[in-house]
Amino acid sequence: MARITASVYTSHVPAIGAALDMGKTDEPYWQKVFQGYEFGKQWIKDNPPDVIFLVFNDHATAFSLEMIPTFAIGTAAEYMPADEGWGPRPVPKVIGHPELAAHIAQSVIQQDFDLTIVNKMDVDHGLTVPLSLMYGQPKAWPCPVIPFAVNVVQYPVPSGRRCLNLGKAIRKAVESYDEDLKVHIWGTGGMSHQLQGPRAGLINKDFDTAFMDRMIADPEGQAAVPHIDYVREAGSEGIELVMWLIARGAMSDLAGGPPPKVVHRFYHVPASNTAVGHLILENQ
Ligand code: DHB
Ligand code: FE
Repeated sequence: MARITASVYTSHVPAIGAALDMGKTDEPYWQKVFQGYEFGKQWIKDNPPDVIFLVFNDHATAFSLEMIPTFAIGTAAEYMPADEGWGPRPVPKVIGHPELAAHIAQSVIQQDFDLTIVNKMDVDHGLTVPLSLMYGQPKAWPCPVIPFAVNVVQYPVPSGRRCLNLGKAIRKAVESYDEDLKVHIWGTGGMSHQLQGPRAGLINKDFDTAFMDRMIADPEGQAAVPHIDYVREAGSEGIELVMWLIARGAMSDLAGGPPPKVVHRFYHVPASNTAVGHLILENQ
């Protein structure tokens, strides 16, 4: 059977992708950010997944404001890096896993979550920057990726509770797949940031720290936090953090297993307009 062995959490700041693509990682400003990912890059070499289930948000790139699915699962064979206005990032195309993705869609929809099935989609920085942070600049991404897009751009956005419960349904779906596969689930986006209006530039270290503490030890408590608290405390784009709850909900302690092992935790301010957070949790 397939199993979720670990969850990885990371911010997805577009300027991080640009720093990598333009060879600026050794500049003092960026060094401090990339140092926080050195551990994860080695860890993922030592603990390679067969498939990554990557929870991210599209930024009105693949889905325009004409059509906005709340939850969308990628069932395609491949996904091209999107042109977000400066040409596509010079990163490999993303290879999908249509069989596992279709199985998860079947199982999760039958567990009463309405997913949109996506057979064609370009992937923006929300997906490619987390891959770059964990894998650097390879010629090809080392394993297939199932993109799972969550609407956190156009209100109303899904609640933390719904995201956590969706994660639980995804764990059941993965564990009902016959093939022996090691699956990582990634929760991406955040941390606190606001890109527009009078509060542009907002960062809230206390909120972010408490969020990471609760992601580790009290995800059910974090799931009860209403979305307006994220927006008030962590900024209009801080709401991206609800996506971390999908990955956290898929960990086995929420199905009666032991607590996950915290193998890495990193927090840094600033990167562009954003607080950067990164966590790695392993199922025991
Ligand atoms: C920034 C952060 C984001 O999450 C995003 O999607 C775009 C820009 C930023 O910090 O500049
Ligand atoms: Fe974003």
